[in-house]
Amino acid sequence: MKSIEVVAAVIVHDGRLFATQRGYGEWKDYWEFPGGKVEAGETREEALRREIREELETEISVDGFLCTVDYDYPAFHLTMHCYRCSVLSGSLHLVEHEAARWLSPDELDSVLWLPADLSILPLIAEITDETSLSMKKKLVVINACVRQKESRTLRIAEPIITSLSERYSVIRYDLPEMDGIVPLNPKLFEERGTGDIPAWAVKAAKDIAQADRIIIAAPFWDMSFPAALKCFFEQTSLFDITFTDNGQTCVGLCKAPKVLYITTRGMDIPTGDPREQATPYLKALGSLWNLGELTTIAAWNMDYSSAEEIDKKISACISEGLELSVNW
Ligand SMILES: Cc1cc2nc3c(=O)[nH]c(=O)nc-3n(C[C@H](O)[C@H](O)[C@H](O)COP(=O)(O)O)c2cc1C
Repeated sequence: MKSIEVVAAVIVHDGRLFATQRGYGEWKDYWEFPGGKVEAGETREEALRREIREELETEISVDGFLCTVDYDYPAFHLTMHCYRCSVLSGSLHLVEHEAARWLSPDELDSVLWLPADLSILPLIAEITDETSLSMKKKLVVINACVRQKESRTLRIAEPIITSLSERYSVIRYDLPEMDGIVPLNPKLFEERGTGDIPAWAVKAAKDIAQADRIIIAAPFWDMSFPAALKCFFEQTSLFDITFTDNGQTCVGLCKAPKVLYITTRGMDIPTGDPREQATPYLKALGSLWNLGELTTIAAWNMDYSSAEEIDKKISACISEGLELSVNW
């Protein structure tokens, strides 16, 4: 019997699954997870991204392997590798399919599925039901606003984080509330050498490595940021978690394609000013850890502005962040 090997995208958004209705052939009008065949020289992930680009004019990220289904259709044997995916850009425009729907877990049996796709629904329903939060993408927030409730930086960051929490599951590291945010002293350094690393640091490093997005909120101090943030980076820059090496140089192990840095500065120092050393530092760290595009949202001259001007600057930054957050 002929064998066909395909990849399928289980695209999840807000706990709902994206399904398409086939517009051709013997199984016309049946529902399926979009995808297609792997071409020579392609990885499965590459094939999936290409297929969704071609079929739905949409860029996706392939977030993880779900399962492989083997199914005997009358005319061929199908092997289908299913991956959990999410939309990066585009609106899943139908090029080849007849119709498409976002299905909640309890709507999964409301459409007529292709047999192979049907066979994985119990697994997918289970995953969506039990961990619909973990199906959301992960946003790691690193809050280094030492002045806490008084912080103007945090006033900007909080509404943006709240808005993003609708689409992301948020993991927060509020440094002013954490113990252990200290420099690598001789004792910690020696323990690190034996693999005895503080549990919080291992968890934070793993969260950072697995994050889909990262927000860093930190006031502008000493021309960069509070030392606590440097201590946090020092302790989470962990070999084989946030980075590794390939025998010749260091290679990042993180995957977040976007990082947002929110700050307020006392002096009249705009982003890009040579005296502003936080953005360049975060870019350099991003290149070590393999983080993607860094956006800086900043208000400056805060210590030399009237209360009214400060409020205006904060509002402008919040608007900029909320606007960005729509497609971020
Ligand atoms: C310890 C400390 C260091 C600071 N260093 C700088 C600096 O180097 N350059 C600057 O423009 N402002 C500096 N500032 C001013 C802060 O950047 C400014 O007040 C900022 O808005 C504080 O943010 P926050 O309200 O989120 O705490 C410093 C403030 C403090 C308390």
